[in-house]
Amino acid sequence: MEKIANRKDIKLGGSLPFTHKGEQAILVRTKEDDLVAYIAICPHAGGNIEWDEQINKLLCETHLSLFDGKDGSVYRHSSAFEVRNGLTRIELKVDEDHNIYAL
Ligand code: FES
Repeated sequence: MEKIANRKDIKLGGSLPFTHKGEQAILVRTKEDDLVAYIAICPHAGGNIEWDEQINKLLCETHLSLFDGKDGSVYRHSSAFEVRNGLTRIELKVDEDHNIYAL
């Protein structure tokens, strides 16, 4: 179990990059105040995944597909490619002091 951050380190609607088991990952605190984390590598062709705070979605920078912040599912395919799978979710645990851990 690795500590990523404390809840106070991440603003409502914000995100925080981290490394999970050697892979690029992203922690998101959605506008609904849910904490979620994903491997930040697009399942289509390995594009970098960023959090777009304005639209509350995850964006693939390579082909511009969008993924839902709540569960990582495909929200909108790229205009050029169909993305078959959603993002890989990372299970989180939050302790009584609001420390956030990746499992
Ligand atoms: S690499 Fe992300 S949609 Fe193609």
